Formats: sequence, C-alpha cells, structure tokens
Amino acid sequence: MSQVNKVTDSRSPIKTIGFIGTAQIGGSLARLSVKAGFNVVLSNTRDPQSLEPFVKELGLLARAATIAEAIAAADLVVAAIPLPVYKSLPANLLAGKIVIETLNYYPLGGFNISALDENKFTSSELVQQHLIGSHVVKAFHNIGYPHISLHARPAGDLERTTVPIAGDDDDAKELVEKFINAIGYDTVDAGSLAESWRIEPGTPIYYWPYAPPVPEGLSEDEARKLYLTQKVEPLRPEGAMALIAETERQFPVGGRLDILPPIHLTINGEYANSRY
Ligand SMILES: NC(=O)c1ccc[n+]([C@@H]2O[C@H](COP(=O)([O-])OP(=O)(O)OC[C@H]3O[C@@H](n4cnc5c(N)ncnc54)[C@H](OP(=O)(O)O)[C@@H]3O)[C@@H](O)[C@H]2O)c1
Repeated sequence: MSQVNKVTDSRSPIKTIGFIGTAQIGGSLARLSVKAGFNVVLSNTRDPQSLEPFVKELGLLARAATIAEAIAAADLVVAAIPLPVYKSLPANLLAGKIVIETLNYYPLGGFNISALDENKFTSSELVQQHLIGSHVVKAFHNIGYPHISLHARPAGDLERTTVPIAGDDDDAKELVEKFINAIGYDTVDAGSLAESWRIEPGTPIYYWPYAPPVPEGLSEDEARKLYLTQKVEPLRPEGAMALIAETERQFPVGGRLDILPPIHLTINGEYANSRY
C-alpha cells in the first residue's frame, strides 16, 4: 500500500484515536491510523493483554488499554463493535467525544430491532440516541474490511476512492473528514443520521463500489486472490454523491449475507477465529 498522508501538523486537533472494538474494521482502521502518524489506543471486551500481539505489529504509536482508558485518551473514538451490543458503549464516558461508528444492521440469527424494521430510525440514530452526549458520525461501515487497506491512497492519487459520512454535527463531520482524508480516503457528506439510510446495507454505495465481482467457478484460492488484490475503479466524490442521490429507501431493512461473495464470508470467518 502506498503511504498515506502523514499527520505532521503539530496543531492538528486529532492526535490520538481510541478504538472500541479492534477486529476486522477497528483493526484495519487502526493500521491506517498508525501509517498516517496517529497514536492509537486499542480496546476490546477482554484484558488489554489480549491485544499485545497487535500492539507489537503496529509499533510505537499503539498501545492497548481498557475501554475507559481508550476513551479517555482519545481525541476521536472509533466504535467498531456489533450492532446488537451498541448499548454497551459507555455513554457517560463518551459524552463530549466525537464517535465514528461503523455499525451495520444485519437482522440475523433471531436478532432484530423493530424500530429499524419499521424504518422509524436508522441504526445510526439509535446509536446517537444511546450516546446522548456524543457527536456520532457514521463512516467506514460500507466497505468490506479486506478492502479498507487495499484502497487507501494519498490525497491526489488517481486511484484514491471515496467513502460517505453522515452525522448531525457539522464540526464533528469536519474533523472526521480530516481524519479520513489523512488515512487515505476522500469523503462525501451523505447528510444527517436520519438520512443515513441512503448509505446503509443494500444501498448502491454499500460494499460493491469497493469490492471486485468474484465470478462463480473459481477455486477458493483463486477467489481469495482476486478478492484481496483485484483493483476496482475508484469512486470519485461526484460518483459517490450520484449513488447516494439515486438511493431509494430499503425495504425490508438490513443487510443480507447471501448477496455477498462466499469468499467474503470465508475470510471473515477465518479472521473471527484467529483475531487478537
Ligand atoms: N467485517 C466487515 O467487513 C465490516 C464491514 C463494514 C462494517 N462492519 C461493521 O463494523 C462493526 C465491527 O465489525 P468487525 O467485523 O470488525 O467485528 P465484529 O466481530 O463485529 O466486532 C468485534 C470487535 O468488537 C469487540 N466487541 C464486541 N462486543 C463489544 C462490546 N460490548 N464492547 C466493546 N467491544 C466489543 C470485540 O472484542 P473481542 O475481540 O474482545 O470480542 C472485537 O474487537 C460491526 O458492526 C459490523 O457490522 C463490518
């Protein structure tokens, strides 16, 4: 991967990113954050010791901590945990913080939220309602984790792609945009959290603009190689805005695993079994 923009400006208000959830998405964003020069403080549900191998991989800018410590140290928090447990995010500790949330609604295995099924709220609105004192920004929920590192590029690179963000606070969105720009992506503003259904699972900007089609009939090794390395046409900001504008409200609401390439599920499963 090419080096992304280094954060060399000592006046940058964002120096330390706190991660709640350090698996596929949190881990991928932590790698890009360190490459861009941010400090990262990593946390999961377990003892920080469980993250030491990952800290070692990331180097001097990384450390592992409890969730409370990761929040306290953070200028910006990334919450990358499963939606079914969003209420375990500590609202009191997160008050006043900007929180990027990457959570997606997949009504699977008996899990569902009727307010989402009935389109009363978006999943991000539920997270914001829980994190009442925080500034929630939805981002990096719409790109499969193997592709987050693959597509990161410095500003101005012709292969740089674009991700959407959504949120209710313009200042928070501006800071998140700067962070995302620094770790290798252009951004577009998809609107408020109430409007974030336009970028949820199943919408045109979800997943496929960043993932290569995987033809049937390939061996698992061939599919893996293609899926992990094949470039796709970068999504320009104007293309991203066009996809968002053409989106119609989804019904039924929520993501479906059966429309993702089987190799995506294989790789996710392998990661889940081997994660730090
Ligand atoms: N995988 C993808 O390609 C992808 C793409 C876009 C968006 N997303 C979304 O991003 C979120 C993260 O997905 P993921 O695939 O990276 O991993 P995941 O399996 O959904 O999340 C696991 C991470 O969250 C931590 N965690 C679980 N419950 C927690 C809690 N109550 N408090 C604090 N941390 C908790 C886990 O810690 P332990 O290791 O200690 O259990 C682990 O670090 C999900 O909402 C998912 O829908 C995923």
